[in-house]
Amino acid sequence: MIPEMVLNQIQERLDIVELIADFVPLRRAGRNFKANCPFHEERTPSFVVNPDKQIFHCFGCGVGGNAFSFLMKFEKKDFREVVEMLAEKTGVEIPKDKAENPALQKRIAQSLEANRLALEFYHDFLLNKKEAHAARQYLESRGIREETVRDFKIGYAPESWDGLYLALKGRLPEEVLEKNGLVLSKKGGGFYDRFRARLIFPILDAKGACVAFGGRVLDHSLPKYLNSPESEIYSKGRNLYGLFQARKAIRENDSAVIVEGYMDLVACHQAGIVHVVASLGTALTEEQARIIRRNTPNATILYDADKAGELATLRGLELFLEQGLEVRVVRLPDGDDPDSYVQAHGAQALRDELHNAKSLFEFKLDFLKTKHDSSVVEGRVRIANEMVALLGKVRNEILRAAWLKELAGHLGLSEQALAAEMGKHRAGERASRFSPAITPAPVVESNAAPAAEKLILGLLFEGKDFLEEAKNQAGAEDFHSPVIRKIVQRLFESPAASVNRWINFFSEDAEAVKMISLACAETDHAADKKRVFSDCLLVMKRSRLKSEREGIRSQIIRAEREGDRNRISQLLYDLNELNKRERQTHEKK
Ligand code: GTP
Ligand code: MN
Repeated sequence: MIPEMVLNQIQERLDIVELIADFVPLRRAGRNFKANCPFHEERTPSFVVNPDKQIFHCFGCGVGGNAFSFLMKFEKKDFREVVEMLAEKTGVEIPKDKAENPALQKRIAQSLEANRLALEFYHDFLLNKKEAHAARQYLESRGIREETVRDFKIGYAPESWDGLYLALKGRLPEEVLEKNGLVLSKKGGGFYDRFRARLIFPILDAKGACVAFGGRVLDHSLPKYLNSPESEIYSKGRNLYGLFQARKAIRENDSAVIVEGYMDLVACHQAGIVHVVASLGTALTEEQARIIRRNTPNATILYDADKAGELATLRGLELFLEQGLEVRVVRLPDGDDPDSYVQAHGAQALRDELHNAKSLFEFKLDFLKTKHDSSVVEGRVRIANEMVALLGKVRNEILRAAWLKELAGHLGLSEQALAAEMGKHRAGERASRFSPAITPAPVVESNAAPAAEKLILGLLFEGKDFLEEAKNQAGAEDFHSPVIRKIVQRLFESPAASVNRWINFFSEDAEAVKMISLACAETDHAADKKRVFSDCLLVMKRSRLKSEREGIRSQIIRAEREGDRNRISQLLYDLNELNKRERQTHEKK
């Protein structure tokens, strides 16, 4: 993996127009540049380069992307190779792999040494110094025993401005201390401690070396936690707090429990539930899933009730599924987190909760039932659509089939229909990975929805106003095209960023890159972007209503054939409700 920062540095020093002009003669056309496409035969130019967004797109063959994508295609090289080429061209240094870079190895050794010394300093301070009295009392008030403090090497950073700095000064270069976020530099020169008057939780890597710290205030001031910055030795998406202490128990139990916070982990451990790691409040990552997968295929998520139901959490759990993990979820009573729960009810109660964890499937179904009204057909169809997308990610076929059957029974929908819908998801995903260049489908007049989705996507890259509005008015599941839905899902979960950076994010996913460049190219010329945006949102919503209507109609026909009068009148009612909603979207216009 090449750090995002390096990609950004290269792109800042690079102009896509100059880059492409080295290979293809470009002519100016308004704000953009045009050429005959170098990737297919053509007489009239349909290859467009956009200097504002630093992207290109060919309307003829559908190829597009940013500077990296262009070179990948033109030189037939992979992402890493073109990044290396362009890094050299722009004079940006790509950090070398550790093994082949002695300077980096030395920096890492020094960083780990700095953290080791800091850990000793904080830990010793907490255990032995008079000034840590309040910190010791705080831990006691939260039920943390000294033995646990020693197991996790918990420490305390004194309130002074230079306690740690003076203790480490002269033992390691100051820039090492600064890079690791142990000290900060003063405006007028000199340094001061980053962690002051905080409890310190050392974060250890798999071998037990300290790579970062989390510091908690003792009172209600903010921020509640301060963490070490990302560095050469620490990346938060690639670590799990407590793994070093939990690893053996995870293997023995053949199962890992994932909690959110430092205190949750420490409290579980102290209660004798040891096969636990903490995600530290960020969305779960693929890398974390892989770390767990190396130790066990079974993961149980133990977050507080609010957090477990958040979309970002659910998305993280789907990543876990994709990595082949069997995922279960515990729903604690509202207002409890694992720490408060185990302190109040004891270890056995928490063990029982873990034992009764629901499968991710059941959990998501329950969650969707609170979001959509399952007493009406359209609600059940929405639930079915989201569940089917989830089931498509389950690797085990037997499990998938069993869940599908259960879902069909549960929602009163036909199993075949659900299976067919799921097939689309799976086919969609396969296509996105392996399909060669496909020319974009022509826009069919009678069905404007696919075009609308595409234009919405293009405008989502125009800034955060559009992104916010789309989030308010629609969900990713409202987008019908699987590629667009996949992209939009990511966009909705992340802060706004330039299209150029998003293309890097999807660099390995040719179909997504193509879709992004097409969408941007098509919206590029829109005169009144706001208008286009709101019109397209309407079109998309109506199309959604239309397909729901078709669903209800076909169910009515079936119910008529079966002579099920109750069902018919229920469906007619649903249809009427749908008509009302549809009229509302027309009135808004
Ligand atoms: P207590 O309040 O002491 O019980 O801690 P907690 O771990 O239960 O905290 P909380 O549930 O509020 O947050 C869960 C986790 O999210 C924490 O353990 C941290 O890893 C992280 N987190 C919470 N607040 C902050 C913050 O202000 N900054 C950062 N960087 N992380 C935070
Ligand atoms: Mn807590």
